[in-house]
Amino acid sequence: MGHSLRAAALLALVVLSVLVSLLITSLKQFGSGSTRFFNATDPEELRSGLDVQLRERRKEILPLLPPHDDDDDEKNGVLEDVQRSSDSVLDLSLWNEVMLGTGKAHRDQMGCESLVDVRAVEVLGSGYTKVVVKANVAGGQAVALKMVNEQGVDMRKCVKEFKDAQGCRELVSYKLQKEMLLLQRLRHPNVIKLKGHCSGVHGGGGGGGVERGRVAVILEQGTPLQMIQLLQTPWEDRFRVCLDLVRLLHFLSRSPLGSVGLLDFQPRQFITVSGQLKLTDLDDVSAGEIACWTDADCTLKFPHRNFTVPCSTRGVCDGLNEKRNIYNAYRFFFTYLLPHQAPPGLTHLVDHIMNTTGELKADINQTLEAFEQILLLYKSGLHLDNLHPSALRDYTVMRDMSPSGNGEYRCWPSYSQQGCVLSVHSAREAAYICNSHSQCNSFTLTGQKTWTGHHLASFRSSFGHLVPDSASEVYVKKSKVPQSPSS
Ligand SMILES: Nc1ncnc2c1ncn2[C@@H]1O[C@H](COP(=O)(O)OP(=O)(O)O)[C@@H](O)[C@H]1O
Ligand SMILES: [Mg+2]
Repeated sequence: MGHSLRAAALLALVVLSVLVSLLITSLKQFGSGSTRFFNATDPEELRSGLDVQLRERRKEILPLLPPHDDDDDEKNGVLEDVQRSSDSVLDLSLWNEVMLGTGKAHRDQMGCESLVDVRAVEVLGSGYTKVVVKANVAGGQAVALKMVNEQGVDMRKCVKEFKDAQGCRELVSYKLQKEMLLLQRLRHPNVIKLKGHCSGVHGGGGGGGVERGRVAVILEQGTPLQMIQLLQTPWEDRFRVCLDLVRLLHFLSRSPLGSVGLLDFQPRQFITVSGQLKLTDLDDVSAGEIACWTDADCTLKFPHRNFTVPCSTRGVCDGLNEKRNIYNAYRFFFTYLLPHQAPPGLTHLVDHIMNTTGELKADINQTLEAFEQILLLYKSGLHLDNLHPSALRDYTVMRDMSPSGNGEYRCWPSYSQQGCVLSVHSAREAAYICNSHSQCNSFTLTGQKTWTGHHLASFRSSFGHLVPDSASEVYVKKSKVPQSPSS
C-alpha cells in the first residue's frame, strides 16, 4: 500500500512543482533567466565537487537527529549511532530516519498518503531556497507545503556551477531536511507546527532505490508577515507580534539544542497564524555557542553598531546568540512596531525596552519580564488609573441594545474599515476616547473581545435606532440622548 500511495503522491508533487515553477518563472522572467555557462569542466570533477558539498550538508544535519531510544531503533531497523560514522552507512541511516520516517518522531505525523488528493494550490511565498504552496489535504484540512524552489537562487547557483539538476535538488533539499529536524526539536507555540512530510520515493526495496531530492514538508498554514500592513494595525496587535517574538527568543536561548541564534533574521522568515507570530524559516540557524580564542572572535557586527562579548574560559562566546537575536528583534521589529501610539500610561515602559534592547543592556529574561509586565498592566487597565473617573457620568447606558443606521465615522487605527472601532479596557476608557473625538456622541461596547480580553468599542456621531442585542450596551452622551429613538 505504501508504495502505490507514495507513487501517487510523487505524481501529485511533480504536478505541483511544475505548477509552482510555472508561476514563479512567470514572475521571474526578468533577470538572469537564461544562464550561459562558462567552459564546461570535467564532469567527474564537477561530480566530486558536488559530492564534497553533499557530505558537508549531511554532516551539518547529523547532530540534529532526535536522540534514540535503543529498543525502538532495533524494531525499526534504524542503524545505530556508532555505525553512522562511516559515510555510506550514515547516508542510509539518515535517509531512513529523515526521509522515510522510520524514526519514532515521524510515526504520528502526516505522510504521503495525505497528499494523494491534494486540491486548490496557490503560492503563499517563496525565498532563495524554498517555495511554499497552499493545499487542502484529504479531509479538507488546509496546510502549507514547503518544497525546494526549483527557480530559487540556491538551485540556480548550484546548477550553474555543477550542471546537475538532480544532484543540486538533493543538495538544496538538505536545507529543507535540516529545517524539518529543527522543527521537530524546537517545538514551541511561536515556531511553525510541523504536521509531517512526504519524500519522493521510487524503485524497489533494499533501501537503495530512493530518488533523492523530492521532499514536501507539511506545515500549518499561515499568512506571511506584511510589515507595511502591520504598521497600520492597532498598537495592541503590534505589541502582540513583539511579545510573541520575545517569547520565542526566550525559548531559543535555552532550547533542547542549546542556545540558538537566528542568522537570517528578517520579518519575511515569520508568518502569523490567527494573529500569533510563528517562525517558519529555520534553515539558517546556529545551534550552540560559537567557539572562540579571543574576545575579538565574539564580535557582533551590525550596519551601525558592533557589540563584543568576552570569550569564556571554556572557549565559547557566551550569550552571543541571545544578544544577536535581541538586537535583531530591536532593529527589525521593535523600532517599527512598539513605540508608535503606545498607550500613554505605558510609554515609559516601552521606552525602557527600546533603550535596553537597542543597547543590549538587558538579557532575554529581563526583556521577557518587561514585556510580560506591560501585558499585565494593559490587561488589568492599571495604566489607565489617572483617567478622570467622571468621564462616564456624562453618558446614559442602554443595556442589551446595539445601534443601527447611519452615524458611523472613521478613525485610525480602527478594527473596522467602515467605522471607528477601537479596543478599550472599560466603558470608562471608551468614554474618555469619545470625549476626545469631536464627532463622537455615543459608543457601544460590543460583545467582541481582542486577544488581551479588551472590548471592541464602536464610536458613532449618531444612530438611526436601537435594536435588541443581548451582547452589547450603548452609551449615549446625556446631552444627545434622542427624545424619541424612532427617527
Ligand atoms: N506555513 C506557512 N504558511 C504560509 N506562508 C509560509 C509558510 N511558511 C513559509 N511561508 C512563506 O514562504 C516564504 C518562503 O519560505 P522560507 O522558509 O522563508 O524559504 P527560504 O528559505 O527560501 O527563504 C516565506 O517568506 C513566507 O512568506
Ligand atoms: Mg526565508
